[in-house]
Amino acid sequence: MKRNIVLLLFLTLSLRVSADEGMWLPGLIGDRIPAMRSQGFRLTADDVYSVNRASLKDAVVRFGRGCTGNLVSDRGLLLTNHHCGYGQIQAHSSVDRDYLTDGFWAMSPAEELPNPGLTVSVLVRMDDVTDRVLGGVTDAMPDSVRAATIARNVKAVIAAATEGTDYEATVEPFYYGNQYFLFVSEVYRDVRLVAAPPSAVGKFGGDTDNWMWPRHTGDFSVFRVYAGKDNRPADYSPDNVPYRPRRYFEVSARGVNEGDFTWVYGYPGRTSEYLLSDAVDYIARVGNPHKIALRTERLRIIGEGQAADVRTRIQYASKAASVANAWKKWQGEARGVDRLGTVGRKRALEQEFMRWAADKPAYRDLVDRLHCLYDTLQPYAFARDYWAEAFGAIELTKFASDLSAAGEEKRPALAAKFYKDYSPAIDRRVAAEMLARYLNTQPGRFVPEGFAAEVEAAGGPAAYADSLFARSALVAGECLADMAPDSLAAVLRRDPATMLARRFNRLYATAIYPECRRIEREITRLYRLYMRGLMEMQPGRAFYPDANSTLRVSYGRVAGYRPADGIRYLPVTTLCGVIEKDDPAIYDYDVPERLHELYTARDFGRWAEEGTVPVAFIATNHTSGGNSGSPVLDGRGRLVGLNFDRTWESTMSDVEYDPEICRNIAVDIRYVLFLIEKLGGAGYLLDEMRIVD
Ligand code: ARG
Ligand code: GLU
Repeated sequence: MKRNIVLLLFLTLSLRVSADEGMWLPGLIGDRIPAMRSQGFRLTADDVYSVNRASLKDAVVRFGRGCTGNLVSDRGLLLTNHHCGYGQIQAHSSVDRDYLTDGFWAMSPAEELPNPGLTVSVLVRMDDVTDRVLGGVTDAMPDSVRAATIARNVKAVIAAATEGTDYEATVEPFYYGNQYFLFVSEVYRDVRLVAAPPSAVGKFGGDTDNWMWPRHTGDFSVFRVYAGKDNRPADYSPDNVPYRPRRYFEVSARGVNEGDFTWVYGYPGRTSEYLLSDAVDYIARVGNPHKIALRTERLRIIGEGQAADVRTRIQYASKAASVANAWKKWQGEARGVDRLGTVGRKRALEQEFMRWAADKPAYRDLVDRLHCLYDTLQPYAFARDYWAEAFGAIELTKFASDLSAAGEEKRPALAAKFYKDYSPAIDRRVAAEMLARYLNTQPGRFVPEGFAAEVEAAGGPAAYADSLFARSALVAGECLADMAPDSLAAVLRRDPATMLARRFNRLYATAIYPECRRIEREITRLYRLYMRGLMEMQPGRAFYPDANSTLRVSYGRVAGYRPADGIRYLPVTTLCGVIEKDDPAIYDYDVPERLHELYTARDFGRWAEEGTVPVAFIATNHTSGGNSGSPVLDGRGRLVGLNFDRTWESTMSDVEYDPEICRNIAVDIRYVLFLIEKLGGAGYLLDEMRIVD
């Protein structure tokens, strides 16, 4: 009897989501509140999310396309990461006004810098619209009819939600289309840069420390959201006024200790926790290794170009950072999946599912059919990866197709932007290397007709690239920006770069993409059933939906971890570590003089703790790309940090989360405040915030 109870207990425990795993929908957070409260949460579901009154969701925003931001004053002051504002900071920079290197601090609103194209979205509400979206849909329907019915329903739901307002709305599928939610937001279009630390602080450690712990990066930047006089979204205008949010975050000056409860409120981009073993195996064994190798080459070439020339260093700073970022993440992910044995565990689950489904016709052969579909997909997915990562790495052909696709009136601006940051020498070498690798790995049916022979006739990929770059008028095309539209169109049409782009794009559109789409649609359809089946098979398990760039809550606690046998990492770092890593010879570790002075004088103001300043901490919150800039909050909902990364060993949490080692990395809010006040001398910004002890 006792054994049975123990067994039962074990079963229920193992069916539950492991502690701290999950990205939960704020509108359904009520279900998680008991678990959160047992760990140190002090608020209610209504404090997190409410439609009827101001709640913390009003203080979290989607920043640009891929980040999160948080509002910290009643005048639209917004904190996000340095790497989230990087593109904007770089766009305002040049060799003689280098905000990347020196930092930028607006000393008054008049000095804030507008950023055309940058938006900030605030969620108005989310609703379960499953019944409306699936109205008239049956299981027996052919896929195309189903898709059309859903599209029609979605359109109606969006129209009803936005009618008579300037709201924007989307409807997103959850659990592979078993459920649908409507998200209504207000999108602000006048967002100005207020402050950014020097890169030697905001990107301290650069790509060497990226995805690593212990970390010493002051990864923050400050923006301000502006609105029309009516507080509604408006295009940029000097007459706009600071946005007054319904709610903003209080900032805690108290900090965190190991074991403290924290939660993260933000917009994780994409996770795939319910993937079949085949898909994980492809990622770890094929997709990631190839993409990593392609980027290794690209980064080598870019790095050599940057080292040789200051102007090139600035031009390629943002590009190199984003190439390096995923490159390193994939390495950690492939390793993490291996270490965890994810493929084996998934196989075991699939076996269990098949046994369970043996007498259930709706589910019986699902897993086998999915295995088959993945086999069929593999060569196409591989070709797609190469088309995107190898051919897509060539800037010239990408520019040629963007320019061709753009309307005449947009072309001059597009060209100006491209040439501001373009090095033909780098690009030509990248092109040679990428084309060589493309030809070496892809079978003839995924290569444009006649292309391999042309490359051979030219004397190989390098000679081919030389000749392409010598002939293309787009290479040194600064003058294109001033050309009459007709002449530009004519140049563009016969340019060899345009023609090459067209051939590769046509190949993709005919030989690669349609098959990928057809097979993946079928896969998604079966996943919908698989997901439903899993939920039936494991009724006690709390399933959380995969991330899909919608607002989520993750929660956990501040905790160190063991990265390897015999090593245990502490969960916090301090300014002492910044000084220890200082190396004037390396751009990314060259601590600014002013920060040195502050350190030597121990001029830490109210941000001192034990003779230093806290810099970063790690916690067990389940996060992903897109969570950058997310507020990290204490049990009372006060801001204690800004999320900016995960550790390398954690990145497989996009496919399987491991509470033992998965950690998100946050910059301690006290370091941010210290830097604004003491390094930037912009203490007036702190006066706007509500800082509580
Ligand atoms: N790894 C972080 C993220 O995924 C930060 C990236 C920016 N930093 C960098 N050194 N590239 O976005
Ligand atoms: N740096 C990532 C971002 O830009 C967050 C790190 C992660 O992938 O968790 O969103």
